[in-house]
Amino acid sequence: MNPDSSDEMVDHMVDFFDRIAPVYDTWAGGQHGRVASRLVDLAAPAKNEQVLDVGTGTGLVAHLVGPRVNPGLVIGIDLSSNMLSIARSRMAKNIQFVGMAAENLVFRPATFDLVTMGEALAYFADPTTALEEANRVLRPGGRLAVSCQRRSLSTRAQDLFFQGLVPLARRHYLSLPRYSSERARFGEPEVLPQLLSAAGFEMTRLTEMVTGGRANGAREWTELMAGAGPLPNTLIRALGPRYRSELEAEVELAMASLGDPDDAFRYHHSYVVAVATKR
Ligand SMILES: C[S@@+](CC[C@H](N)C(=O)[O-])C[C@H]1O[C@@H](n2cnc3c(N)ncnc32)[C@H](O)[C@@H]1O
Repeated sequence: MNPDSSDEMVDHMVDFFDRIAPVYDTWAGGQHGRVASRLVDLAAPAKNEQVLDVGTGTGLVAHLVGPRVNPGLVIGIDLSSNMLSIARSRMAKNIQFVGMAAENLVFRPATFDLVTMGEALAYFADPTTALEEANRVLRPGGRLAVSCQRRSLSTRAQDLFFQGLVPLARRHYLSLPRYSSERARFGEPEVLPQLLSAAGFEMTRLTEMVTGGRANGAREWTELMAGAGPLPNTLIRALGPRYRSELEAEVELAMASLGDPDDAFRYHHSYVVAVATKR
């Protein structure tokens, strides 16, 4: 897998998370919290364990793990200072949040019993190095727990909307950095185990989580999709009120073109959640 570690891409990613930090926990009715909760249940943190939460964001995973390992320590790391500020605003005596890249951990080998990566792997500049770093800092037999969005279960409405984004950017003379398309496959049940195995892990559990809903029209749809990733977010933000109204009119038409009104504005949020052991 090729790293996408251009400074421009990393800046774009961090800007996106800095921007959405205040609404991250409430996005899609608290979707990220539900995924975090599933990940932590599967990871089964135990009293006294030392845990590293990589790409911790607002600390959803770290704050669920903290009480379970207490007096064990949880360290959450991230590159977005706004996400980290929110994480730190919730007090917990055995959790610390630190600015650090997943690809360059400062910890010694065999420091942690458990490493968690909630919805973060596909966003890292270099996912391969991030997984190898997780392996290095785990003690032998330590666990890695990863959740990853399974994009192939997106609805026709989502596929249509996302296909339209690149032409939309071109029409508005916007050139935005993007990760390679192979990342869209990280959450496939046959792909994630391969990535983990290549980094020195043995799969112990793999489970899926499929949720969904329906937006109430084009305004709600575009609001929701603006939280779904850096590309839609930057584009929708950049459009301004007039072009935003035009986009919403186009979205209405695109949804009508699906034929079945039941398909219009329907979305799926699907995830693969895996636990693997350091070989
Ligand atoms: C979708 S959020 C996930 C947050 C949280 N783990 C959760 O389960 O809700 C992904 C996080 O990864 C962080 N991130 C992206 N690239 C990173 C990197 N190279 N090193 C550390 N964190 C990174 C982002 O800033 C963002 O907060």
